[in-house]
Amino acid sequence: MTKHKWMLWGMLFAICTPFALIASDETREAPLRFEENKHCFQCHSQKFYTYENEVTGKTDRKAMNPNFVYSPEAFYEGVHRNFACTDCHSPDYETFPHQAELRFEEMYQCLDCHGGDPTYAKYNFEVVEEEFHKSVHSTRHSEDFNCWMCHNPHSYKRMTAGDHSISEIVKYHNQTCMGCHADSYNFQRISDDVKPSLQNIHSFLPNFELHFSSVRCIECHTSKLDTLWVKHNILPKEEAVRNCVECHSTNTLLMGSLYKYQNLASRKERGFLNSVILNEAYVIGANTNKFMNLGSYIIFGLTLLGIIIHTIFRLKK
Ligand code: HEC
Ligand code: HEC
Ligand code: HEC
Ligand code: HEC
Ligand code: HEC
Ligand code: HEC
Ligand code: HEC
Repeated sequence: MTKHKWMLWGMLFAICTPFALIASDETREAPLRFEENKHCFQCHSQKFYTYENEVTGKTDRKAMNPNFVYSPEAFYEGVHRNFACTDCHSPDYETFPHQAELRFEEMYQCLDCHGGDPTYAKYNFEVVEEEFHKSVHSTRHSEDFNCWMCHNPHSYKRMTAGDHSISEIVKYHNQTCMGCHADSYNFQRISDDVKPSLQNIHSFLPNFELHFSSVRCIECHTSKLDTLWVKHNILPKEEAVRNCVECHSTNTLLMGSLYKYQNLASRKERGFLNSVILNEAYVIGANTNKFMNLGSYIIFGLTLLGIIIHTIFRLKK
């Protein structure tokens, strides 16, 4: 074999190694149900859908109810990403037009699957449920208001775990509340009342925009005694925090609520010392930065290439 052939093989190997490693990184997760769900998403991720009309023999094109349209990206990032649609919905939905009586199908609630299961003990589902039942949403609207109202079955993800910044957490949580409190259509799915705008309600706050992008609604609207990772007892408006000093002082309310995620998350993941001395993004392995990993894989591949070429030359001598 010529020297050049060996060099080519070595180069091919070096180029492929990083990709093989990345691929193995990604297949470590349980397989997603792309194939099974593709059929449902064909219609339920589009503004318009088409189907074979068996009566006329033609292909019909119709507008989809916008509330029945979901993003596959969001679904596959959510906590239930390993589900097939038909794990929660009846398999009879495979046929279209869907049978009318499917509309009355009873949906699972969180506790049906998570209650009493030691795997999920750390989430305290039972306590969350108890706290939720004390909240204004539950006491005023009983069964009409359930966990799915905030935990979108087709996209809910865990923001308070992992590497999300405080501002990302605030944004995600507040969007959950604003989904109804800044959207009268969704609000009126539950109540006939017409609500004043959030800005008018909170006019006592000097910088409305800044506050709503820096603190969560639940900081001011939940009971202080609630010890949950995410507080679930929303109090009546009379009991909301209005006192500026609660946050604008040295030992603030936010240390025990919002800011705890950053402290705990970084301590747990990096070890306490690391979280103090490491400035994110500089040390490979301290975080899950894809490009950093790619970089390290390429360096690894190139090193291997070097060794291979070196060996080949030695063998040839
Ligand atoms: C050919 C397009 C099409 C396909 C494929 C399709 N759907 Fe639908 N789906 C619709 C349309 C249109 C509606 C709203 C009208 C209706 O209920 O029939 C709907 C409604 C629904 C509803 C709400 C019913 C209600 O009124 O409460 C559910 C749940 C649903 N689909 C689930 C599924 C699941 C799960 C799959 C895959 C197994 C699926 N769909 C596949 C078009 C489709
Ligand atoms: C983890 C369980 C779960 C999975 C997985 C799931 N759904 Fe749902 N879905 C629900 C629940 C619960 C509701 C009722 C939500 C509510 O009452 O607001 C629902 C409602 C719907 C509706 C009607 C929405 C409405 O406003 O009435 C459609 C359409 C739908 N799902 C389609 C799908 C499709 C398509 C998939 C797969 C991509 C899917 N679902 C996967 C639990 C699930
Ligand atoms: C039909 C059963 C079912 C229902 C209903 C259900 N879940 Fe789950 N959930 C699961 C399963 C199974 C997993 C694990 C999925 C996996 O490992 O990929 C899971 C995962 C989770 C996780 C992530 C757990 C982890 O350690 O990764 C959270 C958080 C969660 N569910 C919250 C909820 C909430 C909140 C509700 C109600 C709004 C709910 N679930 C409803 C079955 C269910
Ligand atoms: C008013 C909105 C709302 C309602 C209603 C609600 N939740 Fe939540 N819940 C949230 C938000 C927002 C989060 C934080 C999500 C995140 O950032 O991880 C959360 C977090 C959780 C968590 C913590 C997951 C973790 O990361 O540790 C569990 C468990 C949970 N909810 C269960 C429930 C159950 C069970 C119900 C019904 C009894 C319910 N929730 C009702 C808004 C709500
Ligand atoms: C599914 C829609 C929906 C979501 C999501 C939602 N709410 Fe509500 N909320 C309502 C409705 C409807 C009421 C009115 C209850 C009543 O007085 O009848 C209400 C009432 C309230 C009140 C009580 C006001 C009073 O009159 O005392 C507060 C505070 C509140 N919500 C805060 C929140 C917060 C914080 C979140 C997010 C964690 C949230 N809501 C998420 C629909 C929603
Ligand atoms: C700095 C604390 C604070 C924050 C942050 C905050 N609120 Fe409030 N909110 C209050 C106080 C105090 C009231 C009572 C105002 C009054 O009655 O004049 C109130 C009132 C309300 C009401 C009752 C409105 C009515 O009169 O019916 C709702 C709903 C509400 N807030 C939702 C939210 C939502 C949603 C968010 C997040 C986007 C949020 N709040 C963020 C302190 C706060
Ligand atoms: C729930 C906690 C909380 C409460 C209650 C609260 N704030 Fe704030 N406030 C914040 C946070 C967080 C910021 C953003 C700080 C930053 O980003 O620099 C902020 C920012 C501000 C700013 C802007 C500071 C700047 O750098 O421009 C002013 C002014 C302010 N708050 C005044 C008030 C007043 C007055 C009250 C009482 C009516 C109040 N706040 C209640 C948490 C709170």
